[in-house]
Amino acid sequence: MADQDAQSPVGCEPPALSVLRWDEPPEGPVLVLLDQTRLPAEEVELVCTDVPALVRAIRTLAVRGAPLLGIAGGYGVALASARGFDVAEAAGLLEGARPTAVNLGYGVRRVAAAYWEAAGKGEGDEAAAAAALAEARALHREDARASRSMAEHGEVLLEELLPGRAYRLLTHCNTGALVSGGEGTAFAVALRVHRQGRLRRLWVDETRPLLQGARLTAYEAARNGLAYSLLTDNAAGSLFAAGEVDAVLIGADRIAADGSVANKVGSYPLAVLAKYHHVPFIVVAPTTTVDLETADGTSIIVEQRSGGEVTELTSPHGVSTGGGGGMVVAPLGAPAYNPAFDVTPPELITAIVTEEGVVSPVTGVGLAELCARSSQV
Ligand code: MRU
Repeated sequence: MADQDAQSPVGCEPPALSVLRWDEPPEGPVLVLLDQTRLPAEEVELVCTDVPALVRAIRTLAVRGAPLLGIAGGYGVALASARGFDVAEAAGLLEGARPTAVNLGYGVRRVAAAYWEAAGKGEGDEAAAAAALAEARALHREDARASRSMAEHGEVLLEELLPGRAYRLLTHCNTGALVSGGEGTAFAVALRVHRQGRLRRLWVDETRPLLQGARLTAYEAARNGLAYSLLTDNAAGSLFAAGEVDAVLIGADRIAADGSVANKVGSYPLAVLAKYHHVPFIVVAPTTTVDLETADGTSIIVEQRSGGEVTELTSPHGVSTGGGGGMVVAPLGAPAYNPAFDVTPPELITAIVTEEGVVSPVTGVGLAELCARSSQV
């Protein structure tokens, strides 16, 4: 995919992706996921009948992206309670599956709290399980609403920063419908301006090592008819130097109280480039991604993943998780450094867009004020 011009006319929408759904076949409730490790080659569903299966899906990135991890974690607790598993144990396993995206723990704790509250009223296991499922569904719906609001706020911000322009936006990792109850975070903003005929081009970083940009964002851009081009992460610098980027739009996995943003590794270098080239660097995330308990960026735990993800390239039928079927591109046993995320300090961020509004300049006080408006933090 070198260079892709718009495939479908604006206003011709593809069917919504079924990324995650609760189902109740006769054998018992299940959580059905679109297996993101198989995209874009195949749209294959992964059926989780228990929490260990869901934990595996989270660790292997079959289900991924901060908001969706929160939703999946919430449904995981509902699954445990509906199937009579130990809810406290299930919550612990789910919360520990990946450390950086704060939404995972948020979704798990929120649904577990609904379960315990109902259980505490002595209404029985079935009522407690129903309360857990209702809470997971509420979280799912709220995230879809947040997605719509973020897209609206993001669009207004772009018009304020770059009046009257058709934008060339650069994005990293994947932040669309594949990570959300709705149309996503940063990608939802790009999609909204595309629908208004204001997107000149979406520059899509491939996002090594697991290629969420190449495999997933390019897939979402193509199915929505966006004009996009895929680039290697290393090509971003020359793109800025050529004056081809009007703004950077990314998501977040955890935003600390001081406004530091953890996101997919490679986000921080983009922020440095954007600062040097005087290009707005915009983070789009729901308030559920803000963690006021984490004081600053140095306190954010960054997930370290297997070196095999670096020493192997993706296999033709999905992503290698470091030991499974990828093409080996380094000497046998080569040590590798593989942080899944990096942290961008607030002074490099032009604005944080949430469903409650925009924080700009990015300060701890501004962020706390905005979060106080949200019932979700
Ligand atoms: O490792 P992943 O694929 O789960 O990382 C996802 C990201 O870094 C996204 O950019 C982030 O979760 C924001 S998505 C709204």
